[in-house]
Amino acid sequence: MLNPDPFDVVIIGSGAAGLTLALRLPQHLQVAVLSKGPLTEGSSLYAQGGISAVFDEQDSVEAHVADTLEAGAGLSDAETARFVAANAPGCIKWLVGNDVPFSREMGPDGHSSLHLHREGGHSFRRIVHAADATGRALETTLEGMVRRRGNVTVLEHCLGIDLITAGRLGTKPQRCLGLYVLDVRAGNVYALPARAVVLATGGASKVYLYTSNPDGATGDGIAMAWRAGCRVANMEFNQFHPTCLFHPRAKSFLLSEALRGEGAHLLLPDGNRFMHRFDKREELAPRDVVARAIDHEMKRLGADCLYLDISHRDADFVREHFPMIHQQCQQFGFDLSREPVPVVPAAHYTCGGVMVDPHGRADLPGLYAIGEVSYTGLHGANRLASNSLLECLVYGTAAADDIAARIHRFDTPGPLPPWDESRVSDSDEQVVVSHNWDELRRFMWDYVGIVRTNKRLERARRRVDLLRAEILEYYGNFRVNADLLELRNLATVAELIIRCAQSRHESRGLHYTLDYPERSCEPVPTVLTPNR
Ligand code: FAD
Ligand code: SIN
Repeated sequence: MLNPDPFDVVIIGSGAAGLTLALRLPQHLQVAVLSKGPLTEGSSLYAQGGISAVFDEQDSVEAHVADTLEAGAGLSDAETARFVAANAPGCIKWLVGNDVPFSREMGPDGHSSLHLHREGGHSFRRIVHAADATGRALETTLEGMVRRRGNVTVLEHCLGIDLITAGRLGTKPQRCLGLYVLDVRAGNVYALPARAVVLATGGASKVYLYTSNPDGATGDGIAMAWRAGCRVANMEFNQFHPTCLFHPRAKSFLLSEALRGEGAHLLLPDGNRFMHRFDKREELAPRDVVARAIDHEMKRLGADCLYLDISHRDADFVREHFPMIHQQCQQFGFDLSREPVPVVPAAHYTCGGVMVDPHGRADLPGLYAIGEVSYTGLHGANRLASNSLLECLVYGTAAADDIAARIHRFDTPGPLPPWDESRVSDSDEQVVVSHNWDELRRFMWDYVGIVRTNKRLERARRRVDLLRAEILEYYGNFRVNADLLELRNLATVAELIIRCAQSRHESRGLHYTLDYPERSCEPVPTVLTPNR
């Protein structure tokens, strides 16, 4: 697309957050939804367990808030948690009204109601789900709705590179005017003007060598916002999911926490359970506790993996409740219903991100951030299971309402300067990019993983500084492509994670360091402010 007309709203990202926002905006606004791959590709598509919301009669919003705060290890914002939990049932009803095929069960009165799973850290059954493939049910339903919307233009295989700000163009007042976009298939870059821009680009777990996330989770939105002068917070809190399938070809395939919710045990290689030695909630302790316990036992025993076992439950129950996971395991030669399967932790979720207010507004006027890219204060030092899709839905809705109410304040931008390619040539050394990808992800795994030390963080910092300089030079000399742009973003995110980790002199939630093993009494988020 060359020199496109301005849109009212450009949404970068088509996961649960981006698509919710697109559908919640008034239809008189002209909206573009960008995705750097096919529309549905992103973490949302792969979500398994479900979406947390209070529907059980014994349960309450206050209990949901309390569980969120408890998992967040004292660093979640109580107001935010209350706002999200209170809006959860309404969001689910909206999805049900739009025919998302959630699992249901028949009550004794002959009426069907939503079936609720249980997951770690939740004091009640609270997880609304579509068997074990909730993300696919959600994402494909929203995709169908967006594609039918007359006011929404879908731009697939279009990768946002950088935000265009009034400040950078030397005009006033400071605001976001649009962005540069790489048409991945055609290879050209164009400027896309917009009255409001929304980052819905997901997380950054690809910064680690082993991750449950799809390839696109490279933290692009966090890096873009940072370069545009926005604050980021709590980047040290990377969530590692305790149970990903250990198999050379499985690419860290997730084994949902809902399995443990339905009674699955974690086992050592000798078949013994061990979680009781770490937490009285055993397998249903929050994820930071379970992942650290697995990591500890693997290191203690020199084991490549531990095991997850649900074979004591009825085989039909396992196949009925976890059909997709059962089938995937079968492809790798394991029968989930009959035997323990090998598991390891892997990077799963970015708790920190672009700082936003309760409407999803970032620091730059006209810029919003929603979903995993954002830091709302909900997750604190550790996200409660199934609160992520929920946050996408709640903030997608809140930001849509805010944009609808405030868009009149932002004029349609005039023509934006074209992308400057006058000083670059085609790279003849693409191998440098792939080598740097590997190096970055490996040292982040080794030095900035589940257990940290000052020394490991220093090592990682030295390496990331070198890599960033090399990548910047490469970026300045060669024509851009998706691999290079993602690598540049990953290196920025890695630096932000390390800086946040270095400035937290305590262990809390997902940030555990041998040099400061205790929790300090003052829970304070880590906020980084760029040089503006
Ligand atoms: P995503 O769904 O990741 O979408 C990101 C979008 O941004 C994509 O469309 C991508 O193409 C686009 N994008 C990124 N960068 C660019 C760019 N530069 N230019 C253009 N487009 C770009 N959470 C739960 O609450 N419950 C669960 O059961 C659950 N299960 C999970 C299982 C797995 C295997 C994984 C990986 C995560 C799971 N999570 C779960 C977490 C949850 O799925 C994610 O946090 C959530 O889906 C994030 O949604 P999002 O809309 O913010 O981003
Ligand atoms: C899972 O199903 O275990 C993932 C849930 C989540 O990430 O919240």
